Amino acid sequence: MPPTDPNRVVIFDTTLRDGEQSPGCSMNPGEKMELALALADLGVDVIEAGFPIASPGDFESVRAIAQKVQGPVICGLARCNPADIDRAGEAVKDAARGRIHVFLATSAIHREFKLKMTREQIVARAVDGVKRARDLCADIEFSPEDAARTELDFLTEVVEKAIEAGATTLNIPDTVGYATPQHYASVIRHLKQTVRGVDNVVLSVHCHDDLGLAVANSLSALMEGARQVECTINGIGERAGNTALEEVVMALKTRQDFYGLTTGVNTRLLYPLSRKLSHVTGMAVQRNKAIVGQNAFAHEAGIHQDGMLKERSTYEIMRPEDVGIARTELVLGKHSGRHALKQRVTDLGYHLTDEQLNRLFDEFKKLADKKKEVYDADIEALAENQLQFD
Ligand code: KIV
Ligand code: ZN
Repeated sequence: MPPTDPNRVVIFDTTLRDGEQSPGCSMNPGEKMELALALADLGVDVIEAGFPIASPGDFESVRAIAQKVQGPVICGLARCNPADIDRAGEAVKDAARGRIHVFLATSAIHREFKLKMTREQIVARAVDGVKRARDLCADIEFSPEDAARTELDFLTEVVEKAIEAGATTLNIPDTVGYATPQHYASVIRHLKQTVRGVDNVVLSVHCHDDLGLAVANSLSALMEGARQVECTINGIGERAGNTALEEVVMALKTRQDFYGLTTGVNTRLLYPLSRKLSHVTGMAVQRNKAIVGQNAFAHEAGIHQDGMLKERSTYEIMRPEDVGIARTELVLGKHSGRHALKQRVTDLGYHLTDEQLNRLFDEFKKLADKKKEVYDADIEALAENQLQFD
């Protein structure tokens, strides 16, 4: 059933499934459990815990998470065949709320080269798969893989049949990150306008970041009535990754004025969870990554630092504490100005005269020209010099 609040977006986290498909990011069952518990604390609505047929370890992970983790729906992925579906059903059966996520490719490229199946065969297999899953579980998600490259008339037909067969969430994957915001929005709009029964299911989006557009595509789909976003912490996932959970959640929160949509995520836990995932997988977060990167709340330019010291909203659209980062950082470097330097010197416990400060500022600029960043220890040394000078 769609959520009762029409403005509530379902956050479907697939860090433990699609995210784990990131080269170098595979996790053991203990690590998956640790992350699943943290995702539940974060307030996601659905955790896709794994692909149970993929390995005995993944089956056990999904089963253990289904048995232990309270709050979110626990989902297992399955290709559209009886063995996969039964295995996924077995893995999630002990969850308070379990889901089987069945997928089958629909695009001409996949039909012809990968599956070697006709349109009719695809429809029949999708219907059989959804019905079989529905016999095992009340909550069924269906994904026409490579939907963004599927002919619209055929996509419409397949998803309509999947709904008739019992799917409760209909997910539209941009499997290869081919879509652009306008294109993806037009697909979602078309499905919303033409598919019978679409208003009785949750319409979901699943975007990959091959063109760097996963978050933008997801937001464009929400504008057209999609109400579930599939995403991962730090945007990890196949190739260039998936929609970054922290980015889409903070976009909705920061631009509530525009979207009018909410999520159940406790945003103050975003940064700690980003760190935890990075620690578990060994995959570093790029320094300039939105929301959780080291530079996300760091300012170096003198004009920006001066503005920040006067009123932080001049150069900050979000508060670092709202994503779990302790404070804004004013990084001292060659672009920094007198105002930020004076503030740092005072914070470090030095009370210098205007003349001392002027001399220190000259020394600081000379040093900054030679270094990427000037640290507190450098400032302390410069300040001590000034005190000795007099
Ligand atoms: O990208 C994709 O198509 C997927 C499906 C399994 C939903 O990950
Ligand atoms: Zn995917």
